Amino acid sequence: MNFDLTQEQQMIKKTIKEFADEVVAPGAVDRDRSKEFPADIFKQLSDMGMMGLPFDEKYGGAGADTTSFAIVTEELSRACASTGITYSAHISLGGAPLNLFGTEQQKQRYLTPICKGESFGAFGLTEPNAGSDAGGTQTRATEDGDDWVINGSKVYITNASYANHLALTAITGMEGGKKEISAIIVPTDAEGFTIIDNYEKMGLNASNTTELVLDNVRVPKENLLGKRGQGFKQFMATLDGGRIGIAAMGVGIAQAAFDRALRYSKERKQFGKTLSEFQITQFKLADMAMKIELARNMVYKAAWLKDQGRPFTKEASMAKLYASEISMEVADEAIQIHGGYGYMKEYEVERYMRDAKLLEIGEGTSEIQRMVIARQIGC
Ligand code: CAA
Repeated sequence: MNFDLTQEQQMIKKTIKEFADEVVAPGAVDRDRSKEFPADIFKQLSDMGMMGLPFDEKYGGAGADTTSFAIVTEELSRACASTGITYSAHISLGGAPLNLFGTEQQKQRYLTPICKGESFGAFGLTEPNAGSDAGGTQTRATEDGDDWVINGSKVYITNASYANHLALTAITGMEGGKKEISAIIVPTDAEGFTIIDNYEKMGLNASNTTELVLDNVRVPKENLLGKRGQGFKQFMATLDGGRIGIAAMGVGIAQAAFDRALRYSKERKQFGKTLSEFQITQFKLADMAMKIELARNMVYKAAWLKDQGRPFTKEASMAKLYASEISMEVADEAIQIHGGYGYMKEYEVERYMRDAKLLEIGEGTSEIQRMVIARQIGC
């Protein structure tokens, strides 16, 4: 067993850490207020070759592994979680299903612009009446000549305003009394396709979260992604990978909260000594550090299993569940250590808590993760 990062992973970590500290972190407070999408940051990430990090070089990717993807997601999220979720969804929800299930032609056409940073990656699963029950999809695609004609809607879709195309799930028929759900690639400029970007969110304010409305959207039959009727399973498999990204985000946010709490505890004096000299503060910080260490190890293990081609559904779910819950706990403790200052926006720690909350909801709530884990352990 080897717990060291490889040379390539270390190099990626060093590069992205510097970029996160120097370029991403300085504007995070302003972006949280202005809700401005970090387009310029992504232009630079694209120049650095990060936008197609884990995908094949023949599509413009960098051919790196899932651990590297997790490292980049963690570091970006440490600096600005809105940037982190944009990146995580771009790779793990947008690029991954094309990479896993696309034909060679589809990969050339749709994955390449994602890797080159010409299009953001996104996918459409959740609907107004199909959240945790993702199989409750109501969006329908009917055959008409050589086309699919799609009607329905999707909600809470990350990155769609900046995507040229996205894969979404739709009912394409019935099989043995059950809905046949397929995945179809839809260009976002198709006639009848409307993207609505007007959510007022609690956190992750600079990330793009949208509603999609499909009104007789017509796409060629060749836009079917993977096998007809396999769309739900394909998206479940995609979410396994996405959950590693959300878990890495949790580690990044928790690390940011811990770093600030540690620094503040050494500066702030009460009763004639710094907070860090009180055992109560030391114990809080020790617990925070332990949780972060454990969450990061869980992320790396799930990423490693994925890269070995081994089953990783359980580990990805456990990492996502644990990392998202500890990011809330650590952010909460960081606010507590800051006292009244922590409640004020200028000290930033309150943003960590608002951002972290989404991690317990998005890409499967904590309750859904427990359901997935329970099934995996044979309950
Ligand atoms: N990989 C591959 N196949 C899988 C799978 C996986 N991880 N999980 C399930 N499947 C397969 C099952 O084997 C089963 O196949 P068979 O029919 O051949 O037996 C099929 O899929 C149906 O599985 P279940 O019976 O377990 O399905 P279910 O209806 O009970 O739902 C669930 C399972 C785990 C609750 C699932 O619905 C789920 O994960 N829900 C949460 C959805 C979620 O995370 N949504 C967030 C999306 S993120 C988003 O929308 C934001 C954005 O930016 C786009």
